[in-house]
Amino acid sequence: MSEKVFDITQEDLLWVEELLKGYGRKKEELLQILRDVQNRFGFIPMKVQIKISEYLDIPLSEVYSIVTFYAFFSLKPKGKYRISVCKGTACYVRGSEKIIEKLTQYLKIQPGDTTDDGLFSIDIVRCLGACGLGPVMMINEDVYARLKPDDIPKIISKYEPPFKNYEEVMKEQEEIVKSRKRAELKPSTKLVTA
Ligand code: FES
Repeated sequence: MSEKVFDITQEDLLWVEELLKGYGRKKEELLQILRDVQNRFGFIPMKVQIKISEYLDIPLSEVYSIVTFYAFFSLKPKGKYRISVCKGTACYVRGSEKIIEKLTQYLKIQPGDTTDDGLFSIDIVRCLGACGLGPVMMINEDVYARLKPDDIPKIISKYEPPFKNYEEVMKEQEEIVKSRKRAELKPSTKLVTA
């Protein structure tokens, strides 16, 4: 399967040029430049990698190897629905590995990656502040707690077009919530316990 190319606008490229000028031709600033680009675009576009390598006069392979080495950097934009799975200690001992495994099988992407349709991306995080409810994951602002691997397909289907079964899934989840033990969650967090 060919890699989808994620393009950026001329205006974005001008922004990159200004950024590079601000740092000057200092190779030691490469990491910081990449951080700024990641923060601006949510990923490091290939066109920008080429521009950086030309400006700093370093091989493109060197830029690419840094982008792919650090988990902080991404080669693709994050999905419309950003899935964050907690792998902190409390969630880990309650089976977050199995949740991650199911997600990667179901969406056919690895953590740090985005589906080709741009809908979903998976990230591993260290704590979502709901340790008593592990394993926990978030999809954008929705929090799913006390997860089991079999919950994943139905949860994901809520966000997949044509969204036909959204109501049905929400109803089922309400029932599941009632049948599973409740626990405290920080008040600002919207819980959609699965
Ligand atoms: S360890 Fe998972 S929410 Fe804190």
